[in-house]
Amino acid sequence: MLILGIETSCDETGVALYDSEKGLLAHALFSQIDMHADYGGVVPELASRDHVRKLLPLCDQVLADAGKTRSQIEGIAYTAGPGLIGALMVGGAVAHSLAFALGVPVLGVHHMEGHLLAPMLEPEPPAFPFVALLVSGGHTQLVLVKGIGEYEMLGESVDDAAGEAFDKTAKMLGLDYPGGPRVAALAEKGTPGRYKFPRPMTDRPGLDFSFSGLKTFTLNTVTAAEKAGELDDQTRADIALAFEAAVVDTLVIKCRRALEQTHSKRLVIAGGVSANKRLRAGLEAMTDRKQAKVFYARPEFCTDNGAMIAYAGCQRLLAGQQDGDRIVSVPRWPM
Ligand code: KG4
Ligand code: ZN
Repeated sequence: MLILGIETSCDETGVALYDSEKGLLAHALFSQIDMHADYGGVVPELASRDHVRKLLPLCDQVLADAGKTRSQIEGIAYTAGPGLIGALMVGGAVAHSLAFALGVPVLGVHHMEGHLLAPMLEPEPPAFPFVALLVSGGHTQLVLVKGIGEYEMLGESVDDAAGEAFDKTAKMLGLDYPGGPRVAALAEKGTPGRYKFPRPMTDRPGLDFSFSGLKTFTLNTVTAAEKAGELDDQTRADIALAFEAAVVDTLVIKCRRALEQTHSKRLVIAGGVSANKRLRAGLEAMTDRKQAKVFYARPEFCTDNGAMIAYAGCQRLLAGQQDGDRIVSVPRWPM
């Protein structure tokens, strides 16, 4: 089955063609980051307009790259949520219109299920069941994945997501949007041990997270350094490192507990923050000690992309699921 996947939940227009027999045939992405950077964050209306501009040309591009024509598409998957409502509606409207014109089934997919299954596109995908850490700009969740659609929530953030904490820390340190990669780059120049940040909610049992206190701790540290006239480039790097180390340690501790609790030997990390090198190194060291294995998507499929939506949609379309005539756009949608 040849599936066209469409992702438009936020600030990336992603399109891909996935063949259930041959795997991923082609994918293309247009990032709106430069456009939103001037505003310090995503402007929803501008995001929707740009998806309108880019979506059909990207569809044609992946078809050309794969040597296929529109008439060969056998099913269409799009991100139905969660995300920005206007942005989601662009993807949903294009997906449903194309599907209607071609007479093929169409299905709205959960964006986080896409992230969760992105490592399945790699040459050595994890077998079910596995524990997944979803860490993006909007979510921090630990999930036991027993199969497609069989998800047991083990824990999640009670306030900010890890990516959101990275983005806010970036702002406090005067770095541009998107903050995660910039904080990580600055942290590389940091002096280990100069600042010690808390590891929130690790002193008690359980698998929930909280990152808003860490954000306040960062703000207080930045303010104190500023008052003392110490907020130079080195101090900012030292704070970035202390913040990153605290987030990474916290995530690693909770992942270790989740593996122990579920007696699992397989851990998947997905979502934008899973591109973080310190997090990958920390999880690899921890899983090595436990004779477990950590899996992740290639860096370009850690952040938003069409390939993960094509893959997730393909599995569900093959199982006979499809939308009715209604376009499904759900800005807030628990998994
Ligand atoms: O999954 P994603 O692309 O979009 C959402 O669904 O939210 O995740 C974006 C988030 C942003 O908060 C971004 O700052 C963060 O992932 N991020 C990173 C890194 N790359 C992206 N955070 C830390 N280190 C990185 N290398
Ligand atoms: Zn995402």
